[in-house]
Amino acid sequence: MTRLVVPEDIRDARLPPAALYADPAWQADLRDRVLARSWHLLADPLPPPGHARADTLLPGVLDEPILLTHPSDGPPRALSNACTHRGHLLLDPGPARPLRQLRCGYHGRRFDLGGACAASPGFAPEALADAALPTLGLGEAMGLAFAAVAPAQPFAAWWARVESLLGPLPGGVVDPVGSVDHAIPVHWALYVENYLEGLHIPFVHPALAGAVDLAAYQTELVPGGVLQLGFAPGGGPGGVRLADGRDVAAAWLWLFPGTMVNVYPWGVSVNGVLPAGPSATVVRYRTIVTRPELRGEGAGADLGQVEREDQEAVRRVAAGQRARAWRPGRYAPEHERGVHHFHRMLAGA
Ligand code: FES
Ligand SMILES: [Fe+2]
Repeated sequence: MTRLVVPEDIRDARLPPAALYADPAWQADLRDRVLARSWHLLADPLPPPGHARADTLLPGVLDEPILLTHPSDGPPRALSNACTHRGHLLLDPGPARPLRQLRCGYHGRRFDLGGACAASPGFAPEALADAALPTLGLGEAMGLAFAAVAPAQPFAAWWARVESLLGPLPGGVVDPVGSVDHAIPVHWALYVENYLEGLHIPFVHPALAGAVDLAAYQTELVPGGVLQLGFAPGGGPGGVRLADGRDVAAAWLWLFPGTMVNVYPWGVSVNGVLPAGPSATVVRYRTIVTRPELRGEGAGADLGQVEREDQEAVRRVAAGQRARAWRPGRYAPEHERGVHHFHRMLAGA
């Protein structure tokens, strides 16, 4: 199979071939080497103590059935939802419900909410020592839940960059306004690429272009991600203070492969880019509003409009890249360093 090769010097590099977004063998590689090993934003917060619910991680791509449990006497967990006997699903997806045990509907094996096997008809107790449900990755930040099948790094290490760059972030109640899931008929990497450059802003986002100083726009490569900074026009106050004391109008932090933490004067929007098929992505917005009176101002004024404009742009990219006559272009060296960094990380994986 062809490998993805991305030269370190951006001036020597070309954008990836269309195979990255379409070739089934490459999709299997992305699934197994990237998506199964990384953190993904869940739709709902963790269940309260004494509750459990089932979820599916990346439906359409990983299709990993998971259980989110919260034992009354211990921390929440992510467990496999496949019974350790013949694999029957333990719970159907749905809202969290009060449960003391999980009982398999096939042959009655029982588990406590910590995943230990408590009993199993037809088996001697000593045969059940290795029958606990496998534990998956689980993380929580800002009241949002993240899960991973086999994370390449612990959640705390992955999320540590967020506060070290952006400073302490609010937690708690997710605002229903703007907390939506958008289904988009494009490959997830196209959506990430679009997020990682500001070169398109004046062409795609006329309103946003007036709210930030495009000449001052900054892209900073950080370990495991990319930080983009927008400054207020005319050097005015931005309203967002970074951990290093800088004042910006907006900070957009992307963490590999598909999590975005966007800080505006009114609060924070966390976006999960969730691959859902070869040409299907769900973009999950969860917003936490700390200063509602600032919601209509500056670079974060109308996220819905910016999102629609971005979606329209990536749809057109997806359609254009299907052209037989299309050949990948080069990176704009100053403006597409973030996109290049993403592709280098994909190639590394
Ligand atoms: S599959 Fe669960 S008890 Fe048999
Ligand atoms: Fe955009």
